Amino acid sequence: MLVSATEMLNKAKAGKYAVGQFNINNLEWTKAVLITAKENKSPVILGVSEGAGKYMGGYDTIVGMVKGLIKDLDIDVPVALHLDHGSYEHAKLCIEAGFSSVMFDGSHYSIEENIAKTTELVAYAHSKGVSIEAEVGSIGGEEDGVVGKGEVADAKECKMIADLGVDMLAAGIGNIHGKYPDNWTGLDFKALDEIQKLTGTLPLVLHGGTGISEAMIKESISLGVSKINVNTECQLTFAAATRKYIEEGKDLSGKGFDPRKLLAPGYEAIKNTVKEKMDLFGSIGKA
Ligand code: 13P
Repeated sequence: MLVSATEMLNKAKAGKYAVGQFNINNLEWTKAVLITAKENKSPVILGVSEGAGKYMGGYDTIVGMVKGLIKDLDIDVPVALHLDHGSYEHAKLCIEAGFSSVMFDGSHYSIEENIAKTTELVAYAHSKGVSIEAEVGSIGGEEDGVVGKGEVADAKECKMIADLGVDMLAAGIGNIHGKYPDNWTGLDFKALDEIQKLTGTLPLVLHGGTGISEAMIKESISLGVSKINVNTECQLTFAAATRKYIEEGKDLSGKGFDPRKLLAPGYEAIKNTVKEKMDLFGSIGKA
């Protein structure tokens, strides 16, 4: 069932586990995540970046695809369809199209402007029953051509944004999108602890979930992280499985080119990655 992310994340925060946000790029990706959530009785969040939204045809197409899969595959676990790193305009477009959750990333604005825009979007999202994530302190790395240097969020600014009534908060703590560089110094748990003390029961979000060690993931959850975003790792496993299939020449023999066969190994690879993450985050059996 398509639901806002509020209830599943409040439950996760109280139960000391995290719900995975897995970013989607196409039908196979979406189906793999939904079926894995159902098989493992886990709540799940489907993340859509603006670039992926454009690639898939637009937000209406995505809402139709996700709702159709939930119905046809009888997905009986809570599913949130969430805009990832949305601009002010696209957060509104997604709410209008029927997304059940949006992220407004105002981290590149001044804190005053971030507060003004977040306040307006919180009211609009909540009037439609949609949950909303805000961001303080930019997440580093590159996503959809947007490059952030990564900064540690100020706890007092986090508290100011939390008080606007957002349902979840992404606070930069040295995390970055994509692969972590060899000289990465790790997550700033002191900052996370301070943020969680000031923001109380509000679910915190950890972006850049690819390449963070098991120990750091567990420590983040113990310090109030209840949503963890994963994108790059699914892309890497999908690409590796597809490449192996092509290199083995299987799709080039017999019947010839068959897109269903070509994409099958990547689909299975995503299912495995999603299951591993759900296990690590502790969300299996929580639906
Ligand atoms: P990765 O691409 O590092 O997995 O991060 C995903 C993410 O944070 C999406 O918002």
